[in-house]
Amino acid sequence: MTVLALETSCDETGVAILRGRNGDSRSELLASDVASQIAAHEKYGGIVPEIASRNHLICAPRLLDRAASSANIGLSEVDAFAATSGPGLASSLMIGASIAKGLAIGFAKPYLAINHLEGHLLSPFFGDVENGNQIRQNVSLIVSGGHTMLIFVRDLGDYQLIGRTVDDAAGEALDKVAKMLGLRYPGGPEIEKHACGGDPTRFDLPRSMLDSENFSFSGLKTAVRYLLPKIVISSEVKRSRETAMKNSVGNATGSLDSARDDVISDLCASFQEAVIDVLVRKTIAAAQKYRVSLVTVSGGVSCNQELRKQLGEACVREGFEFKNAEPWLCTDNAAMIAFAALLRSRTRFESKVTEEVDPNLALV
Ligand code: KG4
Ligand code: ZN
Repeated sequence: MTVLALETSCDETGVAILRGRNGDSRSELLASDVASQIAAHEKYGGIVPEIASRNHLICAPRLLDRAASSANIGLSEVDAFAATSGPGLASSLMIGASIAKGLAIGFAKPYLAINHLEGHLLSPFFGDVENGNQIRQNVSLIVSGGHTMLIFVRDLGDYQLIGRTVDDAAGEALDKVAKMLGLRYPGGPEIEKHACGGDPTRFDLPRSMLDSENFSFSGLKTAVRYLLPKIVISSEVKRSRETAMKNSVGNATGSLDSARDDVISDLCASFQEAVIDVLVRKTIAAAQKYRVSLVTVSGGVSCNQELRKQLGEACVREGFEFKNAEPWLCTDNAAMIAFAALLRSRTRFESKVTEEVDPNLALV
């Protein structure tokens, strides 16, 4: 069984070809490619849907050709065509889904409409050769740019919502705070970079809704917004004091710049710590409540090394096994969609080519 999948839910165009082995449940990734549009959207500080869909249209055919040639197969040898059908940007989803549907019709093969969040949710099991890619019961934390969710996974397709964000997703909060700080888009990796070496205890930032299974990150974002002018003012005071010193004792530009860098670095570290603290506490509480032995994490924010470290350590401390996808599988990609499609196809799941994409497609 060979599946070709397209992922175009947001600003990454992804194409992957995955072959399931006959006789066991293992799989082999024949090709996976992602064309990032970060450069096209960066100057707007966020994603422009019109630009995203146009770029998908330009990139997808090229990626398809490249994937088929690096997998060394013809498209007629593919057994099923899959695409992300939601949630995401309607005009972006439509591009990948239309191409997959066209290929499915053209080659008279099944079409599989895959939920983007299920792609993330299953990604920690990708390439898990030891257990032959079987999905095991677990509590799953999905942390992406648009979603923050805790899911109790009983089995493939058997999911129960534990909690979700009531306002901003964790990734969204990271992106917005990075923008406030004048950092580049996407903000998550920038915050992580600036947090490195910073003091995570310097700024006392709120941890919201700790007694709930849901999340809220908008209060934390607002706390940073209110803190920022005070920090800027106090670093300006420091700056003018140092300038006065400089005039009397020589060049102190280096120390001025480093004082400003320290503040940003400490603020990023404190903010990142507040996000991670909440994510870890709630995930562990859910794992205890649902009595699972395994905790998984997925989605773009799970690239964050500090989150991986802290959640991993908390799992060891509390006696849970911990699984996270490799970083390249955490941000949007088509391999996770192909993987979800392959697993789903084994349960005889198939979609109609008349099925519309759904920007608000729910997982549970
Ligand atoms: O899963 P994803 O690629 O796209 C969505 O489905 O939304 O997640 C994108 C999010 C963005 O908010 C981005 O800032 C965040 O993942 N992100 C990170 C890191 N890399 C990406 N957040 C924290 N640390 C990172 N290293
Ligand atoms: Zn995603």
